[in-house]
Amino acid sequence: MQQIDDPRVLIGPGDDAGVCLVGEEAIVESVDVITPVVDDPYTFGAISAANSMSDIYAMGGIPMSALAILGFSSCDYEPWVIKDILKGAVDKLREAGAFLVGGHSIEDSELKFGLSVMGRINKDRILRKGGAGPGDRLILTKPLGIGILTTALKGGAMKEEGIKEAVTWMLTLNLKASEAALRSQAHAVTDITGFGFLGHAMNMLYDSPVNFVINYKTVPVLSGVRAMIDSGMVPEGAYNNLNFLKDNVRFAEDLSEEDCLILSDPQTSGGLLIALAENEIANFEQVSKKNGLSYWIIGEVVKGEGKIIVR
Ligand code: CO
Repeated sequence: MQQIDDPRVLIGPGDDAGVCLVGEEAIVESVDVITPVVDDPYTFGAISAANSMSDIYAMGGIPMSALAILGFSSCDYEPWVIKDILKGAVDKLREAGAFLVGGHSIEDSELKFGLSVMGRINKDRILRKGGAGPGDRLILTKPLGIGILTTALKGGAMKEEGIKEAVTWMLTLNLKASEAALRSQAHAVTDITGFGFLGHAMNMLYDSPVNFVINYKTVPVLSGVRAMIDSGMVPEGAYNNLNFLKDNVRFAEDLSEEDCLILSDPQTSGGLLIALAENEIANFEQVSKKNGLSYWIIGEVVKGEGKIIVR
């Protein structure tokens, strides 16, 4: 899409969310809709809400209000299922200090649920996708493998009990990660969702004269992921992402195809990927300790030509 040439639009299509001026204040907006990743309707609603708010946090915004978007077949689902999905979303929004103020449902052969979220944002402190510079450290705030585990659940290779850890991460708001990024003057931030770690890392690199060097051994991976890859529980999206990126990513020779698939696995409600000046790491650590954020330093930024090097 073309960029919008109007001073009221601070950020148009292309970043994690759009930012517009309303008078002197700025608002940030995004929308995301997903199909169920777990069997329990309440948990699905809560995960979908956390996932939809993620783009707002990735920009440094604070969610304020949301509209629900629901697609379902009225013959297939009893009313309590829909009620529970909405209740999960309302509760997750409340945790974030936001409100569900309306929504719309449509008849759909496959269940889908998501939110359009509006938030407030400081127009002078917007976290963009681009802007990582040589010498920056790369920080990831949730482990990878969520797509593989939810595929295993759908495929019957795992029980809901087995993906508990993944569910906990999907339910975790990116609020604390956003706070830590803002308070340590992060140079660039995005959230890891459907294009996988590599796809979103590549979006941060687009057209910039730097490379990301990822130290694979430091990348956090959920337990059970490797066993599920061996059982063939890999979402098609992981292969598509990998195929799409292959010209721009250089993998170390000792990395297996499994390792590459973990890096391209589509995430639901994944973590933030943050580029931070090295001398801000201590500050980031301090904020994280205080607000209880988990994070992993997984690589660095060097001069380059927009490539990712995994070693
Ligand atoms: Co995003």
